[in-house]
Amino acid sequence: MLYIGIDLGTSACKFLLTNEKGEILNIVSEDYPLEFPQPGWSQQEPADWWKAVQKGIPRLIEGHDPAEVAGIGCGGQMHGLVVLDENDNVIRPAILWNDGRTQPQTEYLNDEIGKDVLSERTANIAFAGFTAPKILWMREEEPELFKKISKIMLPKDYINYKLTGVHCTDYSDAGGMLLLDVRNKCWNTAMLEICGITEQQMPRLYESWECVGTLTEEAAAATGLTTKVKVCAGAGDNAAAAIGCGVVGDGGCNISLGTSGTIFITNSKFSVDPHNALHSFPHADGGFHLMGCLLSAASCNKWWMEDILRTQDYAKEQEPITEDKLGHNDIYYLPYLMGERSPHNDPSARGAFIGLRMDTAREDLTQAVLEGVAFAFRDCLDIARAQGIEVNVSRVCGGGAKSPLWRRILSNVLGISLELPQTEQGPGYGGAMLAAVACGEYPDVITCARALTSVKETTVPEPALVSAYEAKYKVWKQLYPALKGIL
Ligand code: XUL
Repeated sequence: MLYIGIDLGTSACKFLLTNEKGEILNIVSEDYPLEFPQPGWSQQEPADWWKAVQKGIPRLIEGHDPAEVAGIGCGGQMHGLVVLDENDNVIRPAILWNDGRTQPQTEYLNDEIGKDVLSERTANIAFAGFTAPKILWMREEEPELFKKISKIMLPKDYINYKLTGVHCTDYSDAGGMLLLDVRNKCWNTAMLEICGITEQQMPRLYESWECVGTLTEEAAAATGLTTKVKVCAGAGDNAAAAIGCGVVGDGGCNISLGTSGTIFITNSKFSVDPHNALHSFPHADGGFHLMGCLLSAASCNKWWMEDILRTQDYAKEQEPITEDKLGHNDIYYLPYLMGERSPHNDPSARGAFIGLRMDTAREDLTQAVLEGVAFAFRDCLDIARAQGIEVNVSRVCGGGAKSPLWRRILSNVLGISLELPQTEQGPGYGGAMLAAVACGEYPDVITCARALTSVKETTVPEPALVSAYEAKYKVWKQLYPALKGIL
């Protein structure tokens, strides 16, 4: 049997085909535009995602028997607000996870409803990218459109809806809406009321590996598959990536160095960060996780390479960053190109290069970008450590993890070993695994993840570099508070 994993990302949708042994038979990708209609705003057309699926799946299965495809599982960008009218038409572009327009609504939730109340109800406080503040924003700024809302869902749920006709979501993704009672895994009615919505407008909740339906006739015709294909509820991309990297059960850690940067710490039992700096969401294996999220991680490097240096050759730009330069760079970089989520919760934060001199070279700035993102990860790890969570080793995935130099910097800044999984296809691979569980290929997600994942390469921290970076981190950490309110 064959399984399709979909990674519904921010710049592209990736599709991956596996067999029942988890061997990857094909990977294709379809890009789509990302709009920034105002500074700090970020949105996308759900129709573009669906177009990508209609183009991507036929390309993916070319040369394979469509009747062999048994299941589809999607890991999707989290928190995005997708709203449909009573005829299931999309009402407005989806407002994405890295959109900062909801600062007033976020402040209202945290300051007037109160962080303690939010945390009690949902295990989280409000962050600008979360879904609830976006619903409030729509109610205040687009009241006519708000009145038309019949269904609310998250990005990958729109794909599942187009595939099956079912309005559904899964717990790992629903946790990021600030509407889910994470501990009890149900919608919190008081939070729905605050946002002016009802449970009827919300998608039905499923575990990630549960089958939500099979392909409709239209979806089968559009993708070249059969109506027998089962679609599982799928997961938020970070939970799907953790599954795809084998990070399941208790005490596992996964770092995703993608457009966003996340550090994802698993726990089979519910737990909450007492200061709510880390998110507390369900995991796609039936357990829970704590997560810190940087809004701009590998996207900082992409911005620096492609938009500023105007090159695609990342490796060439990293070549002059020689051994002797590691731990000795005097240039510092703040990665807050889209504001910052963890730990600052500040949509107005901005990026910066600090410490420029006449002899500063191009490669010093490239190095500063890689280090600045690593330091931001360190902020999140330190919050987990302050809660007594011990992390000595983490899996690492995402586009940025392909760079051995970046992995080395990150390992030394964090002081932990980083394990690169055999397949680097985090969310897509996790999606295919969830589909395989939905189709009965494996009894549960943990068994499936343990059977199909292994480590390709480990980067170990080097004591001298760990202490050099410790000193640099202490300097870097003073920069955001010093610049806050100025930029
Ligand atoms: C997690 C988050 C991002 C997106 C990226 O909270 O906002 O990692 O899921 O797609």
